[in-house]
Amino acid sequence: MTPLLQVTDLTKHFPVRGGAPGSVAPIFAGPRRLARTLAAPGKDPSSSATRDSARHAESTHQTPRSDPQTSARHPLGSSLLRSQRGLIKAVDGVSFSVDAGQTLGLVGESGCGKSTTGRLLMRLLDPTSGSIRLDGQEIAELRRSGLQEYRRRVQMVFQNPSSSLNPRQSVGSAIAAPLLAQGIEPPGGVKAKVRDLMDRVGLRPDHYNRFPHEFSGGQKQRVGIARALALDPHLIICDEPVSALDVSVQAQVINLLQDIQRDTGVAYLFIAHDLSVVKHFADRIAVMYLGRIMEHGPTHEVFGAPQHPYTRALLSAVPQAAPDADRSGRIRLTGDLPSPADPPSGCVFRTRCPAYAQLGAEHQELCRTKVPHRAVACHHTELVGERLRTAVAATD
Ligand SMILES: Nc1ncnc2c1ncn2[C@@H]1O[C@H](COP(=O)(O)OP(=O)(O)OP(=O)(O)O)[C@@H](O)[C@H]1O
Ligand code: SF4
Ligand SMILES: [Mg+2]
Repeated sequence: MTPLLQVTDLTKHFPVRGGAPGSVAPIFAGPRRLARTLAAPGKDPSSSATRDSARHAESTHQTPRSDPQTSARHPLGSSLLRSQRGLIKAVDGVSFSVDAGQTLGLVGESGCGKSTTGRLLMRLLDPTSGSIRLDGQEIAELRRSGLQEYRRRVQMVFQNPSSSLNPRQSVGSAIAAPLLAQGIEPPGGVKAKVRDLMDRVGLRPDHYNRFPHEFSGGQKQRVGIARALALDPHLIICDEPVSALDVSVQAQVINLLQDIQRDTGVAYLFIAHDLSVVKHFADRIAVMYLGRIMEHGPTHEVFGAPQHPYTRALLSAVPQAAPDADRSGRIRLTGDLPSPADPPSGCVFRTRCPAYAQLGAEHQELCRTKVPHRAVACHHTELVGERLRTAVAATD
């Protein structure tokens, strides 16, 4: 069966500084502008970004520059990538799939490339290389009307509900915006559909004419979810939708997303820092580090028998609810996260891997070579458990 979403070898490299106004502008524009782009779906982000760059150039009296990343669809042959210098490898050869009605949890530390992956999937950014297929169709090939149709099927919920809503727009208008932008007149009219969506996400009818500042964080996120649902999408990319909320409100929003999935069959790509957030929610987990997937698999396998040292370290750091829980097996990662502009050669986790120091020279040599695509991006999965036990015992 073809998965709903198939991502293969997806790569996004950013110039280290200032070199690509066309790619950078949508990011710096913030969630509110991104939300507007999603509501005005035929827009090609690269073209709007190019206009932004021209506007910026106008205000700063500079000559507008061309964008090497967006003007070259296959820049692998270009001198920019051949040199491999001065590039932030935000996403570097990422592959995964999401089945209809399922949830993939994408987790990893700050800066590992989760949001960039989400924005690539929304076509808010153009990939440097790789393929994204929705229902078997390559999305890089979509132009205006195809992109408009794509944005009906794929929507996004942002991390910060406050900054993704326009403070001067009523909640009813914010939820109606995608319908109006797409020219969709639902049976019963736009207002009735909006009221229906508000009811669906637990907002009251009298909230319709209120403004975002009159709502709590959790309520604002419900508005963001209703807006994402307006076009009956097949897939919603949830970029840390609960990390700005209190723990009790987090649980309510996750329950709401689960109920919606059960009722509508929508699939989620659920981005989170924290493995515990996705544990009871995701069908599959992909663990990301420095722009790459370290381990992916069914949730019960990743939690029950994690294979990669990084997954093990993340899991061992999940806070235990019981005050007397045994914390002796905690794996502490040492050293700073390397720069994505200069990742370690071979296995990118090598410089922080607690098992590496316990390996013999010939095994370490292998760690310095690139790990091929596989479910667990480690050369030594069979040795790691035992070496990690030694490493943990040494630090306890
Ligand atoms: N437009 C851009 N230009 C240059 N570098 C960028 C741009 N967008 C992201 N990056 C860099 O790419 C890397 C991945 O960023 P990204 O926002 O995807 O991380 P993340 O995993 O979502 O982090 P967080 O958990 O903090 O949200 C980071 O090093 C970031 O600085
Ligand atoms: S390949 Fe080597 S350095 Fe990388 S995760 Fe495995 S053991 Fe650690
Ligand atoms: Mg992010």
